[in-house]
Amino acid sequence: MLKDFLSINDIKRDEMVDLFRLTDKLKKYPNSDVLKNKMFCLYFEKPSTRTRISFEVGIKELGGEVVFLDKITSQLSRGEPLEDTIRTVERYAHVIVARVFSHKDLELMAKLSKMNVINALSDLEHPCQALADIYTIREKFKTLKDIKIAFVGDGTDNVLHSLLLASTKLGIHMNIACPKGFEPEKSILERARTQAKISGSKISITHEPEHAVKDVHVVYTDVFVSMGQEKDSKKRLKKFLPKYRVTQELLEKAGSALFMHCLPAHRGQEVDDKVIDDIRSIVFDQAENRLHTQKALIIKLLGLEQMYNIKLSLQD
Ligand code: CP
Ligand code: NVA
Repeated sequence: MLKDFLSINDIKRDEMVDLFRLTDKLKKYPNSDVLKNKMFCLYFEKPSTRTRISFEVGIKELGGEVVFLDKITSQLSRGEPLEDTIRTVERYAHVIVARVFSHKDLELMAKLSKMNVINALSDLEHPCQALADIYTIREKFKTLKDIKIAFVGDGTDNVLHSLLLASTKLGIHMNIACPKGFEPEKSILERARTQAKISGSKISITHEPEHAVKDVHVVYTDVFVSMGQEKDSKKRLKKFLPKYRVTQELLEKAGSALFMHCLPAHRGQEVDDKVIDDIRSIVFDQAENRLHTQKALIIKLLGLEQMYNIKLSLQD
């Protein structure tokens, strides 16, 4: 693997498959001291529940140490440049897990420092979410072969971007239903289409949710107003509602499909209560798998898999 994990583009298909195998092992044997003496800085410019806790818990379960930094309580709030902050943090930490407004800031961190940089969500991508989501699908269906996902909602969404890139590496088919003008970012779509030619994935983009959900295994949605887009809230909601809300009626049209959402959900907005609380909803399995897949990611990124295996064999 590369030094940093900023995008799903940073992981090859086979590396992802391997990472899922390591995740299986970590689910079975969660504790180790393989990260002993490794320092992690969690730098978050935006709120978080799942990402922050799953990284903190996962790192601690593997024997590492975590310090938390945010924009408001650090000197960044008083105008210290991000460059100087990163040059400082790298004197203390081996890895920075960063949730940022601008994806470019992650690229800057990766370029500036020798720390491994992990994207904990940016305006462009949420690659750690995609790893957990695909792993959850693999767990539920016991295969990724011929799996079809319908994503209903905001085509420009960071979670969708990463899911699309991950799916098209693995041969998973994706139907996207979004309003006109809310199609995925051009560079992401181009990359996904190139990958799809190799993997055999099919990508379809429609403005009709009912068409997208036909015969799929999974119906996925995310919020209509992502963090940082609050000022466009009214305009966005007008575009998405009520047509792109995942209702029971829409889920019925998808046959026996499972429901997925990265969370947090705006119940009653992009999804009805009844859908997210239905037996077919696997949203908390996704949330749990953030923990396991991220632990595998860290071990892989730091080149510690062999060490983890040796330590595991000594524990037995
Ligand atoms: N899905 C996700 O990243 O959740 P948080 O915003 O709570 O971290
Ligand atoms: N698209 C959402 C995902 C939150 C986990 C956001 O960026 O706010």
